[in-house]
Amino acid sequence: MKNCIIAFLAAGMLAATGCGNGASGSAAGAGDGNAVIEAIMARRSIRQYKDTPVEREKLQLLAECGVNAPNGMNAQAWEVRIIDSKEWIDGITEVYKAANPQMASRPGFKNMFVNGTAVIAVAAPDDTYNGVNAGLLGENIMLAAQSLGLGTCCLGAPTRFLNSAPEAQPYREKLGINPDYQILYMIAVGYPNEEPAAKPRDLSKIRFVE
Ligand SMILES: Cc1cc2nc3c(=O)[nH]c(=O)nc-3n(C[C@H](O)[C@H](O)[C@H](O)COP(=O)(O)O)c2cc1C
Repeated sequence: MKNCIIAFLAAGMLAATGCGNGASGSAAGAGDGNAVIEAIMARRSIRQYKDTPVEREKLQLLAECGVNAPNGMNAQAWEVRIIDSKEWIDGITEVYKAANPQMASRPGFKNMFVNGTAVIAVAAPDDTYNGVNAGLLGENIMLAAQSLGLGTCCLGAPTRFLNSAPEAQPYREKLGINPDYQILYMIAVGYPNEEPAAKPRDLSKIRFVE
């Protein structure tokens, strides 16, 4: 299941092969001037954010872009929760820190969502098909955010805690997610305070079939 989510979240990112990795044979230039391709190529995972909160209108727009993703039979078997409550974010972070004290010792640590001022949780029934649907939804959110000048980081690590740690359950209940659904990933969102370089992509994974 997790591999499946990673594969599909990464699908849009595979196109980012020409961004800063110096790979030969990249077709990145073919997209020059195309806003969608430029957003795909420029998106990076952001882990440092300004304190400026993200406007709710923009957060709502990101989620709407998310649910416009293709999904099997248009069943829309997913739930999306936008969390910009500092009380919720700081509260769960304190609980998480108590269980993982080493987390807080990281330089610049502000919260368990790599310091995002908001976080979007995506939940779905825990099976392959719905993992694919949810993954496509997430990439829509991250590319829409990129196009609006916002940073994002897809996060798997906090979901384990939220789905299963007993002390996290009051926070999960506050999200009002169907108890039969798993939170598959969360997306940190905020105004970026760093410009990380692109991580290299392996173009040899792509082949034409003659
Ligand atoms: C399913 C998934 C889970 C991830 N979980 C984490 C995480 O828990 N913590 C983190 O810092 N980054 C996480 N990432 C971000 C990846 O590390 C990142 O996308 C990858 O290194 C490529 O870098 P880029 O996004 O800047 O291109 C996750 C990404 C995906 C797709």
